[in-house]
Amino acid sequence: MKGMVFTELLDMAERVIGEDGVDEVLDSLDLDSGGAYSAVGNYPCRELMQIVGALSDRTGLAGDDLQRQFGGWMLQRFSRSYPQFFADKTCPLQMLDAIDNEVHVEVRKLYPDAELPRFVTEWLGPEHMRMTYRSERPLMAFCHGLIEACMAHFDARARIEVLAAETGKAAVFDIRLER
Ligand code: HEM
Repeated sequence: MKGMVFTELLDMAERVIGEDGVDEVLDSLDLDSGGAYSAVGNYPCRELMQIVGALSDRTGLAGDDLQRQFGGWMLQRFSRSYPQFFADKTCPLQMLDAIDNEVHVEVRKLYPDAELPRFVTEWLGPEHMRMTYRSERPLMAFCHGLIEACMAHFDARARIEVLAAETGKAAVFDIRLER
């Protein structure tokens, strides 16, 4: 998992529990990396889950809610750092449709070691899409947060239903735009 994901999670956490709080959380964990992350490095997803767990204990926020909030944070970060992917899309469903076959394809070219999920999208109408998420990592709630924030990015409102989510590594998101 890219170091950027870790540095962003810690930046988000710092806003809530402060720099000292983040240091305490990292010190409380037995992390292979020692808790020092470089944005360009690569670290096991297991460490991300350890940090999410400790932040959840510290803040009382459920792990899934924290992941979801973090997804929102990351979407904003992505849209600022990579505006070109968003610029030619007119609707959030079109954006979601482009993640697997355009956005993450480019990410893989930039970072061949990126660990990315797979998505299959199915249009059920012009404003209704099903997006199936599959990953080796249990980041379904993070994905949920990215999808929610994608709607907000395009100033759209949507009803997002999670249809099948068993392990956190796979889910079907049913997304219907609302007027
Ligand atoms: C709403 C749109 C998006 C969705 C739903 C999405 C979904 C995801 C998810 C769920 C992950 C976590 C990895 C996993 O679950 O296996 C991920 C990782 C990642 N995504 Fe996306 N993504 C979106 C947009 C973007 C954009 C716009 C970029 C920027 C170019 C991007 C770049 C990345 C990168 C760099 C990672 C980390 C890979 C790693 O840690 O090795 N994504 N994405």
